[in-house]
Amino acid sequence: MSVKVGVAGLGHWGPNLARNVDTLAELAWICDSDGSAVERTRGRFPQARATTDFDELLADDALDAVVVATPVPTHADLARRALEAGKHVLVEKPPAMTSAEIDELVTLADARDLVLMPGHLLLYHPGVRKLKELVDSGELGDVLCVYGNRQNLGVIRPDENALWSLGVHDLSVILYLLEEEPSEAIALGRDFLQPGVEDVVFCYLRFPSGKIAHMHLSWLDPHKMRKLTVVGTEKMVVFDDMELERKVTVYEKSPWLRAETYGEWQTRTGDIHIPKVATDEPLRLECERFLALVGGDGDRRKVAQDGARVVHVLEWLTESLRGR
Ligand SMILES: NC(=O)c1ccc[n+]([C@@H]2O[C@H](COP(=O)([O-])OP(=O)(O)OC[C@H]3O[C@@H](n4cnc5c(N)ncnc54)[C@H](O)[C@@H]3O)[C@@H](O)[C@H]2O)c1
Repeated sequence: MSVKVGVAGLGHWGPNLARNVDTLAELAWICDSDGSAVERTRGRFPQARATTDFDELLADDALDAVVVATPVPTHADLARRALEAGKHVLVEKPPAMTSAEIDELVTLADARDLVLMPGHLLLYHPGVRKLKELVDSGELGDVLCVYGNRQNLGVIRPDENALWSLGVHDLSVILYLLEEEPSEAIALGRDFLQPGVEDVVFCYLRFPSGKIAHMHLSWLDPHKMRKLTVVGTEKMVVFDDMELERKVTVYEKSPWLRAETYGEWQTRTGDIHIPKVATDEPLRLECERFLALVGGDGDRRKVAQDGARVVHVLEWLTESLRGR
């Protein structure tokens, strides 16, 4: 029997989730507290029941799962209410704004054996999957450092800073690639446009293995960049989401200690390779993963805990940013 899902939040992003749910499962409900958003959307999904009241959707005993695509400050509360009502939850990123909130959600989901999956879209991007494959296969040698560039002019958000709005993407990937929790987290930045909302943030992470990572996050920048670079001892790889055809580029470039140079470091440059990366829509893959977890496939507990790790590190970086 098909999984019955309700989607809450029908702004810019929610209808994309509803569209995917509609093709992969049964979209049973659509919900937005703003009636005009419901009216705007209901024609696209005529078979789904529509409401402005989240509790009405939760009261439907036949509903299996809820997707939360509302503004960030509402995520933790709506996810908690959905879990308390016995529904599996896919909640947009970041799933919560504090460690205390996400830890409560993880405990609740665990106690009720429900799925709590954060919408870390990049983790389902075939280009990021390729990066992971390259890191795990050892083809890059030992990974030394990873850095992310997520810059653009805008979108200037009032209720989230660049760290939470942009950094959540790169951080989820960095933690996924390295499978370590950082032992050091430092962030520096400035709130140029709106007091207390940092627009430009630089982050440094160091891991127990000695690997390091960096993130440049900004909506005050002339370049639109969506790039992650992984530097290994044998090869280096770049994932560039602005590219259409060469999302991933592998460089045979590395430092080289030649015996005949008596301990002096040289560099080695070889081929540049562009592996094929599937063009599947990441959001569809994310929804498929959620439905698989709901169906009992995969480690639902790990997915929730991985999501919590991202919030923990974001909170740690925030404390550093604010100088505490
Ligand atoms: N993964 C991604 O790449 C990606 C991309 C865009 C947005 N997002 C996330 O999706 C979420 C929504 O973003 P958006 O750009 O669509 O925002 P938006 O402001 O356009 O839409 C949010 C909608 O939620 C509704 N809403 C608010 N409180 C509600 C409640 N209690 N119950 C029901 N509906 C409620 C609002 O009326 C609004 O229509 C955010 O968390 C954002 O971070 C993720």
